[in-house]
Amino acid sequence: MVRFAQFGAGRIGVMHARNIAQNTRASLRRIVDINATAAGQVAAATGAKVSSRDEALGDPDVDAVLICSATPTHVDLILAAVAAGKPVLCEKPIDLDYARAKDCVTRLKGAKVPVMLGFNRRFDPHNAGVHAAVVAGQVGAVEQVMVVSRDSGLAPMAYLKESGGIFRDMIIHDFDICRWLLGEEPVTVAAQGSVLVSDELKTIGDFDNAIVTLRTASGKLAVITASRRASYGYDQRMEVHGSEGMVQNANVQETLAQVWRTDGNRGTPLMNFFIERYDAAYRIELDHFIDVVEGKGPPSVGAIDGLRALALAEAADASARNGGAPTAVADL
Ligand SMILES: NC(=O)c1ccc[n+]([C@@H]2O[C@H](COP(=O)([O-])OP(=O)(O)OC[C@H]3O[C@@H](n4cnc5c(N)ncnc54)[C@H](O)[C@@H]3O)[C@@H](O)[C@H]2O)c1
Repeated sequence: MVRFAQFGAGRIGVMHARNIAQNTRASLRRIVDINATAAGQVAAATGAKVSSRDEALGDPDVDAVLICSATPTHVDLILAAVAAGKPVLCEKPIDLDYARAKDCVTRLKGAKVPVMLGFNRRFDPHNAGVHAAVVAGQVGAVEQVMVVSRDSGLAPMAYLKESGGIFRDMIIHDFDICRWLLGEEPVTVAAQGSVLVSDELKTIGDFDNAIVTLRTASGKLAVITASRRASYGYDQRMEVHGSEGMVQNANVQETLAQVWRTDGNRGTPLMNFFIERYDAAYRIELDHFIDVVEGKGPPSVGAIDGLRALALAEAADASARNGGAPTAVADL
């Protein structure tokens, strides 16, 4: 039984706490949040104790830490948990500031406990199926990757203002997916950003639409098409084209039911947003982390992956602000 302390009882914290409580190999022992009401609600739902940071990290009966508090808290909490000898699963991103994230990863070198990063999309069974086909060589040598990533609706302005922008906050997941599917690090990024959904985005210097192209040293190409709003639901698709074939996945709908009539056919809506669409992914991610804590192997996605995805976001942001000029990715 892996006994958890969790930092953060917000939007995604409620879901992680539920997943820990429902997992037969885990329990939630302590919940920490500066919002006492939020912490109290998670405690009431799971049996965890509302705790301070020091109580959580100093508890010898806490075996592992899950960090899903606000992004600016991640670096300090990762380093403090590792210093306390607790394995860490931390939500993306490590930090919005590249230099700070890089310093964190440097300081983690030689750490005695594992640190895993929550790039949950890698654990989605449909995405994992695409990756497994690529790794098994079923499409031959990878030449192109295509990712479509459209949120179902614009997040509140209060969230967007603090988010770090579309590349660091949202497309960071897609950068990770492209690295994962390409099997080779992109070295150049070119991005176009645009404001088509809400003029309010202009007031904070952000974009709500973006198209990014990535190029690896050997010439493999990837393209990400992203939007903060899709009128028809959460649009999440990917495709890999190689020398011997192509693999793709489709969107996940609420059910597979299709109504057929003389004027065509109609299915049920797409999953509403990430909590619904990636429900299984978050549970499988947690299971993988429990395996890691139990010593069954290293995390399949670590802090270095968070830093590499952030380097791509930095390059994309710079490119989009410079008319789409190809921009070199920082050498780690
Ligand atoms: N992997 C994903 O799909 C995914 C999805 C959403 C959010 N996230 C990430 O998860 C994190 C949380 O996002 P959210 O949407 O739940 O935000 P949120 O604002 O709903 O929740 C954040 C919580 O952190 C708490 N908090 C702030 N400072 C704290 C501190 N020092 N100690 C303990 N708690 C503190 C806040 O009170 C709040 O309850 C962010 O880093 C975000 O990028 C990841």
